Amino acid sequence: MNKRNIPISLPVTGEEEWLATKEPLMTGWLTSGPKVREFENLFAERHKVKHAMAVTSATTALHLAVVALNVKEGDEVIVPAFTWVSTANIVLYQGAKVVFVDVDPKTFNIDPEDLKKRITKKTKAIIPVHLFGLCANMDAIKEIAGDIPLIEDGACAAGSGYKGVPAGGLGTIGCFSFHPRKSVTTGEGGMVTTNDDQLAETIKSLRNHGASISEEERHHGAKPYILPGFNLMGFNYRMTDLQGAVGVVQIKKLDKFIDERNQWAGYYKKELGNIPWLKLPQFTSDYQHGWQSFVTMIDESIAPLKRNEIMEKLQQVGISTRPGTHAVHMLDFYKNKYGFKAEDYPGAMAANNFSMAIPLHNRMTAADYEYVVHHLKNL
Ligand SMILES: Cc1ncc(COP(=O)(O)O)c(C=O)c1O
Repeated sequence: MNKRNIPISLPVTGEEEWLATKEPLMTGWLTSGPKVREFENLFAERHKVKHAMAVTSATTALHLAVVALNVKEGDEVIVPAFTWVSTANIVLYQGAKVVFVDVDPKTFNIDPEDLKKRITKKTKAIIPVHLFGLCANMDAIKEIAGDIPLIEDGACAAGSGYKGVPAGGLGTIGCFSFHPRKSVTTGEGGMVTTNDDQLAETIKSLRNHGASISEEERHHGAKPYILPGFNLMGFNYRMTDLQGAVGVVQIKKLDKFIDERNQWAGYYKKELGNIPWLKLPQFTSDYQHGWQSFVTMIDESIAPLKRNEIMEKLQQVGISTRPGTHAVHMLDFYKNKYGFKAEDYPGAMAANNFSMAIPLHNRMTAADYEYVVHHLKNL
């Protein structure tokens, strides 16, 4: 087989997205305006939620979620120990305490049994992450959480679902990312979703400096703007209309992208299913996987090489792989500041040490998938 170069991920953007940015550039409406509103409406419709509010990233979406829920010093927020670091950082932004919960390395999501042990009287919120596009076990989490608000970290979960309900409407607040490694992208960008009118109003104000009116009203309103109320201390987390215009084009392609990803995930499962040392994603029909990433686990006790050596070998033939994500308690900042030990979260450590994402994205061709399968089988 001729050598190919297959990146771990590559967004599908092109002429349509490029042309979409023409209108804001020509009209001069560049900050949050009509294109962002259109994107929000399409996103809300697809995810069956009442409110969708565009922001600059999933990190700022998550930050607004904890601010809107009044998370503050003295509060605890439960965060999976295996996730992207910002799921935890945003709790620290508020001066609150991060309480890690272990994950099940079979799903990479919150282990409900461990969650039971982490809840205290100080628990102000729980952040179930829908990692790699697979929703967390929301029924089990809700039963344990009772009245504690749930913030879905759906950074990887645009278009994913659980028991037929789209991500973003499974908890109190949902947060999404449009970073280029996600299924749909606006370059950088994020979305906050909720079905709660009061929270939506707060979040809209918080993303816009705490102002009581939008950018459109402030600059292009029918009446001259004198002074909008500033009832909250807010932030500037506004998405631009250039990004909104790209988002409008992208969100219309989401279901097509996910269908294709599903098809190729099925191909991987069929072709790689009998490699004994390679554990493939497993889940029941309760879960509608969005396949942001296809993440395997290496069983090093029977594998021909260690995980890192396998990744090196694949890189040599042009196949890019990555660990799924990180055990956050072992990242230098968290480990040094709070003195965590690896064994505090064995599920997260296993996922950290043995997970390997292989390429699955909408720019890959059939020959690319065949190439990946060929090299994995021949290791
Ligand atoms: C689970 C999770 N949460 C949060 C984020 C942060 O997203 P963003 O880069 O849009 O801030 C990511 C990004 O990779 C993620 O995977």
